[in-house]
Amino acid sequence: MSHWEASNPPAPPAAASEAAPRALTPELTEDDLGLDRSLRPRKLADYIGQTRVKENLSVLIEAARQRHDVLDHLLFSGPPGLGKTTLSTVVANELGVAIKSTSGPAIERAGDLAAILTNLEQGDVLFIDEIHRLNRAIEEVLYPAMEDYVLDIVIGKGPAAQSLRLEIPHFTLIGATTRTGLLTGPLRDRFGISFRLDYYNEDELRDIVVRSATILDVQIDEAGAREIASRSRGTPRLANRLLKRVRDFAAVRANNEISHQVASDALHFFEVDELGLDSMDNKILELLVETFQGRAVGLSTLANALGEDAETLEDVYEPYLLQQGLLQRTPKGRVATERAFRHRGVPYNLFG
Ligand SMILES: Nc1ncnc2c1ncn2[C@@H]1O[C@H](COP(=O)(O)OP(=O)(O)OP(=O)(O)O)[C@@H](O)[C@H]1O
Ligand SMILES: [Mg+2]
Repeated sequence: MSHWEASNPPAPPAAASEAAPRALTPELTEDDLGLDRSLRPRKLADYIGQTRVKENLSVLIEAARQRHDVLDHLLFSGPPGLGKTTLSTVVANELGVAIKSTSGPAIERAGDLAAILTNLEQGDVLFIDEIHRLNRAIEEVLYPAMEDYVLDIVIGKGPAAQSLRLEIPHFTLIGATTRTGLLTGPLRDRFGISFRLDYYNEDELRDIVVRSATILDVQIDEAGAREIASRSRGTPRLANRLLKRVRDFAAVRANNEISHQVASDALHFFEVDELGLDSMDNKILELLVETFQGRAVGLSTLANALGEDAETLEDVYEPYLLQQGLLQRTPKGRVATERAFRHRGVPYNLFG
């Protein structure tokens, strides 16, 4: 907090370092693991939304099948919970091949990657989550593997060292990242195709809620599903999580049936507002609108005031606020928009 107190605005309203429990973080939590798995669509036809991406993929998959060739390496990017991992498994299912999954931070040494690559079968999908977090030395091993399906291995040290070239099975690498900006140029260039997933619209989310309710055997009507959809921040993972919370609420208070009224009462109860913002989002807006009174605030200042790290703020909280036109990134820092003032019920530019 100390760097923060030096600036002129009044102190933040609450002890922000006691970060409020966040019902709506779109990041994967322990709680989601089972839910995510059971609700994950397995085929392109069950995958709701992202129409353009799906159309492109189905052409690419069909073409690879006709050529009897492996699919080109794919990169999926976009905010957490939009379906990057899901889509990767869908691609493998559509190709009828196995998928082996790992993640950038899990591959610590070049040898780890070599072991993974040599264990692949012809045509397999290798999925690397958080691929922007691969270390550079390991990326170097990946380049020839992606381009020519070979591994260059150095045996021994010093003048006696020998270089060996090892063939590996032809495979498709699917990389997923929440931050394309952090991918090195050479790595990005080696992906044949790159898709950016976008936030889902309300109709798509309603369909996702209805589909999930069917799988979970939950009674919900169209208006109830729409109510959950409208507060899910464009994110399927959140739609599913809210559905689960509302289901629990309905079990206790509403005879297991989710109507519009029940959904609305439940979401109010869980402090999710009508834009799908939860207490953390509202705290961000409160800081920008009320505490800083509409002035531009640097990312690190904002992060300090919230007791969050800057990267999380940028990756997890900001994208939706930006997309909703509640926040702007300017060269001087983050600024609340007129819509944010309205949302907080504060007259715009009163102080500015
Ligand atoms: N298009 C979709 N149709 C139906 N359900 C979906 C869709 N996309 C995602 N989901 C649901 O949302 C959950 C989260 O998706 P997923 O884990 O693929 O997101 P992600 O983009 O990989 O997130 P992260 O960045 O945190 O890894 C899935 O388990 C699935 O149930
Ligand atoms: Mg994922």
